[in-house]
Amino acid sequence: MSSSGEAELLHTFKGIPFTTRSSPELLKSLDTFDAREDDVLLVSYPKSGTHWLAGVITKLYNTQVTITSPIEFGDISQLEELNKLSSKRIIPTHLDYNMLPPNFKNKKCKMIYISRNPKDTAVSMFHYYRDNPNLPTVDTWTAFLDLFLKGNVVCGSWFDHFLSWEEHEDQKNILFLFYEDMKKDLPKVVKEITLFLSLNVSDNDIQDICQKSSFSEMKSDTEKENSDPSHTVCALTSNRKLIFRKGAVGDWKNYFTPKQNIRFQEIFNEKMKLSKM
Ligand code: A3P
Repeated sequence: MSSSGEAELLHTFKGIPFTTRSSPELLKSLDTFDAREDDVLLVSYPKSGTHWLAGVITKLYNTQVTITSPIEFGDISQLEELNKLSSKRIIPTHLDYNMLPPNFKNKKCKMIYISRNPKDTAVSMFHYYRDNPNLPTVDTWTAFLDLFLKGNVVCGSWFDHFLSWEEHEDQKNILFLFYEDMKKDLPKVVKEITLFLSLNVSDNDIQDICQKSSFSEMKSDTEKENSDPSHTVCALTSNRKLIFRKGAVGDWKNYFTPKQNIRFQEIFNEKMKLSKM
């Protein structure tokens, strides 16, 4: 990674690397952000399937909902923009549980946390880093994996992020989902989401929504639409092709060497020893 690139594109807040698109003023102000009881948070570590989940959820409502850009992206004016929205807000975020504005917790807002096999997440993030000029340059997969395992990437350590949320798994207002379950049986997961959000959606409509949310449909839809980077889940790029890359489970096997896999597994076992995963 070029150090000048890193210096320009990233900064650290409370020990976690953020892109300079998340201004320090905005991050400092999150503590006082005014949540609404009907806000729904879509929480993820980057590259875990956030756009997929957002695509599904927006199709479930028959009332007006607005999917905002992530709460931690932008400058301080982003929070005013969010306050002005009159419709129901679906708010994506990559924040660690500890950095989440306390109002969301106090008001028991519904939160959906989507997680993905960290090996596939790392591979997906590697491509995102490599192809996105708004992120530091990475030269090789090996160099990126090292950064990922040290938590030296945007949003910090996958392990810390997951564990910070998993600790609150038993709360009724938090639903935990896995990318791999969505790949295996999307209608089942969508049904679970409708029950969690208390939405009345028929089985036929669920089938229809699942068809419209397939990787190929979503990829071709976004290639057709003119995306406004300030109103997309990922405010780091207006190039939608970077989001819909492969959409597969197990792509990590094409990248990890046996030695890298052993190292990853050792770190995983150590960091996750208290996790139920
Ligand atoms: P890959 O890079 O492995 O293809 P996020 O939205 O959190 O940034 O996650 C992006 C990842 O989700 C990408 O993974 C992307 O291809 C995948 N994805 C997006 N839409 C999908 C869909 N409809 N079905 C399956 N995977 C999808």
